[in-house]
Amino acid sequence: MTEQSLSLEQLRLLASAAGAAPSLHNSQPWRFTPMPDSLGVQVYTDPDRAVPLTDPDGRALHISVGAALFNLRVAGLRLGRDPEVRLLPERDEPHLAGTVRLSRPAPSSPPYGRDLFEAIWQRHSSRQPFANRDVPEVVLGELTAAALGEGAVLSVLEEDGVRRVLSLTGDAERRTHADLARMAETRAWLRLEAPAADGIPAAALGPQDHDARVPMRGFTGRTLSTSPSQRFEALPQLATLSTHGDLPADWLRAGQALQRIWLLATAHGLRASVLHQAVEWPDTRWGLRDPAEGVGHVQLVLRLGYGPPGPATPRRPVDEILDLTGFRDARVGGESSC
Ligand SMILES: Cc1cc2nc3c(=O)[nH]c(=O)nc-3n(C[C@H](O)[C@H](O)[C@H](O)COP(=O)(O)O)c2cc1C
Repeated sequence: MTEQSLSLEQLRLLASAAGAAPSLHNSQPWRFTPMPDSLGVQVYTDPDRAVPLTDPDGRALHISVGAALFNLRVAGLRLGRDPEVRLLPERDEPHLAGTVRLSRPAPSSPPYGRDLFEAIWQRHSSRQPFANRDVPEVVLGELTAAALGEGAVLSVLEEDGVRRVLSLTGDAERRTHADLARMAETRAWLRLEAPAADGIPAAALGPQDHDARVPMRGFTGRTLSTSPSQRFEALPQLATLSTHGDLPADWLRAGQALQRIWLLATAHGLRASVLHQAVEWPDTRWGLRDPAEGVGHVQLVLRLGYGPPGPATPRRPVDEILDLTGFRDARVGGESSC
């Protein structure tokens, strides 16, 4: 039995790993506090960091927080502890997304097939063109199994599915582009000049004179180009991530699945980026469902392949996301200095 309170140093490691997760526009809509007995971490959504026009229901916000929850689980394992997750444990506390209890020793073999801790820091969004090279079936099979392990479904698309999803994404991208309020909201998350702790820096944008065959998100408001300076892969490898339900607990599950897939993909040398535009309009989102299967709710579209790793993007300092009010570091025997 571990049953040993977390130290300040361990809490900081857990929060910094969680905070390295992907989030819509790098909004980082999360906060962490130690559990009252200091045997785990409470994870909160931060409504002040919502993106309300693009994400009115808070779906992407919960997916982002779910991804942070998964990183926390991986970091807990690195500390030799077995993460036990409860989603939305308190009805009266709507912002408490979940708890990760870390009171028991970690299992002897890594529960996700391999240790994913290093991948937390190596994973970045890669918005550059990928090589025209297939992702091996065996790797796609592992990613699909990883999603199932989190209660979500990763559907790896064949050519007709890819073309359907690209067309829906292109429609949604054009619609978003014409929506001045949404574009202003997106631009407000750009950090093109001064360094910042959140948002998207210029180095991470990817080509902005886009190749119309892969409609990546235009953050700056440029139009799709017929003569792009860089050619994207002829047929991207796309996959949709779906859940059976469409409530906050499902979105948190989707976020954990996204991160488990993305970390595993990173460990395999794959790159990824999210194509979220079609999820942001009800009709294009509906169209993302596989017409043959027709069940479930698509939560996002993932593009996988081989290419540049993508640059690291900034994160808020741990002191800003980890609330240590009242925490006593039992290992040092005193009140924390924070
Ligand atoms: C729910 C969600 C939606 C996202 N949507 C998009 C998107 O449509 N286009 C895109 O390029 N990146 C998208 N991203 C990626 C974020 O912009 C990215 O995670 C963030 O800027 C941090 O960068 P990093 O992934 O390199 O750490 C999305 C991420 C999440 C979690």
